[in-house]
Amino acid sequence: MAAPNLAKALFWGFFLERCILFVDSAVGVNWGTLSSHKLPPSVVVDLMRENKIGKVKLFDADPEVLWALRGSGIEVMVGIPNDLLAAVASSVAASDQWVGQNVSRYMVKGGVDIRYVAVGNEPFLTNYQGRYQSLVLPAMLNLQQSLARANLAGYIKLVVPCNADAYQSASVPSQGAFRPELTQIMTQLVSFLNSNGSPFVVNIYPFLSLYQSADFPQDYAFFEGSSHPVVDGQNVYYNAFDGNFDTLVAALSKIGYGQMPVAIGEVGWPTEGAPSANLSAARAFNQGLISHVLSNKGTPLRPGIPPVDIYLFSLLDEEQKNILPGNFERHWGLYSFDGQAKYPLNLGLGNGWLKNARNVPYLPSRWCIANPSQDLTSVTNHVKLACSFADCTTLYYGGSCNMIGEKGNISYAFNSYYQLQKQDSKSCDFDGLGIVTFLDPSVGDCRFLVGISDSSGCCLGCGILCALWFMSLWVIIYLRVFDSL
Ligand SMILES: *[C@@H]1O[C@H](CO)[C@@H](O)[C@H](O)[C@H]1NC(C)=O
Ligand SMILES: *[C@@H]1O[C@H](CO)[C@@H](O)[C@H](O)[C@H]1NC(C)=O
Ligand SMILES: *[C@@H]1O[C@H](CO)[C@@H](O)[C@H](O)[C@H]1NC(C)=O
Repeated sequence: MAAPNLAKALFWGFFLERCILFVDSAVGVNWGTLSSHKLPPSVVVDLMRENKIGKVKLFDADPEVLWALRGSGIEVMVGIPNDLLAAVASSVAASDQWVGQNVSRYMVKGGVDIRYVAVGNEPFLTNYQGRYQSLVLPAMLNLQQSLARANLAGYIKLVVPCNADAYQSASVPSQGAFRPELTQIMTQLVSFLNSNGSPFVVNIYPFLSLYQSADFPQDYAFFEGSSHPVVDGQNVYYNAFDGNFDTLVAALSKIGYGQMPVAIGEVGWPTEGAPSANLSAARAFNQGLISHVLSNKGTPLRPGIPPVDIYLFSLLDEEQKNILPGNFERHWGLYSFDGQAKYPLNLGLGNGWLKNARNVPYLPSRWCIANPSQDLTSVTNHVKLACSFADCTTLYYGGSCNMIGEKGNISYAFNSYYQLQKQDSKSCDFDGLGIVTFLDPSVGDCRFLVGISDSSGCCLGCGILCALWFMSLWVIIYLRVFDSL
């Protein structure tokens, strides 16, 4: 009788060990919604399913987005924005309420498969000058209690997506260490993550290293090998991603957690808005990254152990993002705002090239352009105003519409504004300088967009309202008839 049990024990022992040592990384995506041309969430969820994308990272817990993810089987990371950290850190009630409203209510049969809650987004970023630093741990402690009270602590893990600036860019990866003022917080944070079986989540951007430093070797940002490898004792690094990853591993080792699992919260390459941002570079980087990670090669400090997951940044372009860091901020998408793949990419999920979104509810094929019969000398303020609301980043150097000439520039600005205003006819006036056209003014790679209707999202709501309206009408008619008898 002991033999089958022993066999079973051996089997499970072996099985678990394999699971722990050889977990394959999975490729997921970030889904941000800072866009004025938002695809209906159900279209985005269909797009992910069509592409077999099984993991998504969100930056908040938008009820419309989560509603659309119900029953999709997609694993979800929801996020607590930095601005909510203070409330959650200082009040158990606020923490309970957040978990109740944004997590528990979806954790039902046929609901949303929430696996992670991101506590803040890059809260230790140097630019924040420590504003959120002391809030992260207290917020995590409260949230962990709230999850436990909701019986979800065993299933949902808390994580903190960190910018790579949390550790210092050492000359060689083995010298990596957390920023001195973060050492204590990081030690407590990592100990907390470790005791809950959560990974350390880091965002790694070789593009930014290249963008910010003129002497950064171009080929070191990619995965094709480098003529400038970084030699670190016995170890040689041929790409910035591995170098950065191992800098983190070294920093974790220094605080006693060299074995801590690491997930990549954001990684990607933009397609325009900077000299090194273009379609072929984005494709080369992302494809190289995916092949590298899925090869399970790992890094010199973690041979054979790839990151637990990687979330590509980003699924869609977001044209309302702040461009203080650069115009490229609005162009990180694998897809343009309307779910059309910008370049062929194989996500390694057994599904071939990226497939486009379907059933996109475009506005009518109409554009606003500069009226050719008008004198355009007084147009500057209109263009400035249009571009302060709508996105004109593609007009600048390194953008797909940089070469369309002065008149093209004006038309592009007018159209962006007109589409932002959902093609409201008044929004193409510009003191008589604008005119609506039915001929697509796009030139070459420069695409004049057509916006997305946001009325389709309301069909369900409208359906219910209409049904209610009809029902009450019938009741009234019925009562009238009844009365008159
Ligand atoms: C949490 O849920 C509430 C209620 O549904 C919602 O209004 C709020 O936007 C959510 N919070 C976040 C951070 O997404
Ligand atoms: C695209 O960017 C890469 C990386 O910086 C650069 O080497 C290449 O020349 C660029 N290609 C074009 C067509 O601009
Ligand atoms: C179009 O606008 C962009 C951005 O302001 C500028 O760089 C470019 O020179 C303009 N083109 C012409 C012909 O004015």
